Amino acid sequence: EKGTYPHFMLKEIDEQPFVMRNIISKYKDDFDKIKLDEDIRRAVMGADRIYIVAAGTSYHAGLVGKQMIENIAEIPVETHIASEFLYNMPLVSENPLFIFLSQSGETADSRGVLVNVKEKGFKTLTVTNVPGSTLSREADFTLHTFAGPEIAVASTKAYTAQMAVLAILAVDTANARGKEMSFNPLQELAIVANAMEVLTDQKEKLEQVARDFLSVTRNAFFIGRAADYYVCLEGALKLKEISYIQAEGFAGGELKHGTIALIEEGTPVIGLATQEHVNLSIRGNMKETVARGASPCMISMEGLDDEGDAVVLPKVHTHLAPLVSVIPMQLIAYYAALHRECDVDKPRNLAKSVTVE
Ligand code: F6R
Repeated sequence: EKGTYPHFMLKEIDEQPFVMRNIISKYKDDFDKIKLDEDIRRAVMGADRIYIVAAGTSYHAGLVGKQMIENIAEIPVETHIASEFLYNMPLVSENPLFIFLSQSGETADSRGVLVNVKEKGFKTLTVTNVPGSTLSREADFTLHTFAGPEIAVASTKAYTAQMAVLAILAVDTANARGKEMSFNPLQELAIVANAMEVLTDQKEKLEQVARDFLSVTRNAFFIGRAADYYVCLEGALKLKEISYIQAEGFAGGELKHGTIALIEEGTPVIGLATQEHVNLSIRGNMKETVARGASPCMISMEGLDDEGDAVVLPKVHTHLAPLVSVIPMQLIAYYAALHRECDVDKPRNLAKSVTVE
């Protein structure tokens, strides 16, 4: 039920702080340590390489997950689009673990890969919002994302929940490998929940950003580097699917290798800067687009912010910045779709779970 909300999507965006707190409580033991199934821990520990397989928004969460697991647990990870992996399988390592990320647990493309790799005898783990779903039943192990039912076609809370669970898995693995960890995901996710709340309380401002930048345009670009690039892919997908604005997420440095040709007077370019090591270079890329007439909308994180940034995110741990920076993107997409009188919860041509290849 959407209660007083006009749309499920807005309700689900607002639920994200609660989802974070729920995940913390489900993955915490009585000693405030991470609680995780011993068999899953062993499966991850035994892997020489992890393959994350997913589609759409879940694929974007998988890109962030790759970075988290590599940086925190120091296990190599590849993230693949399920439908591509199916017909263009890379060389796989000797002891791989396959992680299927899926909100619904029913995505046919991901299931195709699962069936394939199971035949080869590889270990499989499904991270899903629906335990008991096909992907959950057919994999060796399941981790639950505890986001609650997601009704709007455009995925929001399932995405942040997937990344939260992958962060916990990454740290648990690092702990099991005996690595000194200063990063406590259970504590840091509580800070993320508060930061999400600050942003979901800024609806009027974000509606204004959507009106100023996106109410008449035909296209829009999202640029970022490193983890911010992955969030830009997601921001662009959200905008595309519900507002029908042609939007693309780009790695900041890649723009000048072709796409910058599309920038004209007034083209909206949304820039994201939450990662200190790329802050100056992404700002440089923004300037290049402005010099060609772009309308810039900069989203940055406290501590890295500059005068004139449209949105400043409360500070959270670098590893978890994507969970917070996606919130204004979800809200901006939502309000852009409203201004354009689109059917937010049921965009044209889309289904909530894609059970055909
Ligand atoms: C986008 C969206 C889709 C899904 C994709 C995978 O908002 O919802 O891109 O993320 O179809 O679905 P799941 O996660 O159910 O496998």
